[in-house]
Amino acid sequence: MHAPAVDCHGVSVRFLSERRTVTALEDVSFSVQPGGFTSLLGPSGCGKSTLLRVVADLIAPSEGQISVLGLSPEEARKDRSLGFVFQDAALLPWRTALQNVELPLEVGGRRSLPTGAATPRELLALVGLAGWENSYPHELSGGMRQRVAIARALLGGPRLLLMDEPFGALDEITRDRLNEELRRIWAETGATILFVTHSVYEAVFLADQVLVLAANPGRVAAVETIDLPRDRDLLIRDTAAFVAIAARMRTHLGKGTH
Ligand SMILES: Nc1ncnc2c1ncn2[C@@H]1O[C@H](COP(=O)(O)OP(=O)(O)OP(=O)(O)O)[C@@H](O)[C@H]1O
Ligand SMILES: [Mg+2]
Repeated sequence: MHAPAVDCHGVSVRFLSERRTVTALEDVSFSVQPGGFTSLLGPSGCGKSTLLRVVADLIAPSEGQISVLGLSPEEARKDRSLGFVFQDAALLPWRTALQNVELPLEVGGRRSLPTGAATPRELLALVGLAGWENSYPHELSGGMRQRVAIARALLGGPRLLLMDEPFGALDEITRDRLNEELRRIWAETGATILFVTHSVYEAVFLADQVLVLAANPGRVAAVETIDLPRDRDLLIRDTAAFVAIAARMRTHLGKGTH
């Protein structure tokens, strides 16, 4: 047995300010298997981004333990085992698509790629942007910019990809296409993915496990294994099995509100 890619035990995060204390996460436990795809689903403010930041070593938990790829979050980050994609593609406008993908080689202190790692050009091809290497962000659509951000996060072959509502700002048609693309990219790279969304459909379509979070305080409402075929396309969303799972997720979400 390999160590889980993410193993979280009793994690709480409290933010203290002069006026009040916000419990962003309370007693959160879950694990993600290596090569797995887990969606974090929950309403606004339930602590999804906070949880992703704990995994990425951007926030230390107030209580609890967490291991990432068998290491502490700090070790995993220093080991360059993590890739992060944000809601906003956050590309540098004066750099081409290819130069944006190459950016971590310049700012991250890593001068060269590990042997065998995909090149920036290959990563752009992987995300469907072959031929767009020399285009600037303003010449790309929102969906294409998110693809560039995904290619950049994949540079160096991270074993764990953390994605915080990467398609939240896109129209439904583009989002659907990128959902299918992401399943393919996941299969091709073998990376473990932790994906934040507040869309039930997106959460279920993408993942093999969904962690439903409830708000105030942020806590686990349910953890479900998604028992759908590994090989899936968007039409699966019309099947009885999918509809039943989505309905269950909505029930979990409903129980978390008060
Ligand atoms: N740095 C911070 N300082 C103080 N409070 C914070 C901080 N970051 C988050 N919070 C609080 O923690 C709670 C959870 O925030 P978080 O951003 O994790 O929610 P979320 O589930 O990602 O929401 P959304 O879907 O809107 O992105 C919120 O009440 C928020 O106000
Ligand atoms: Mg968030």
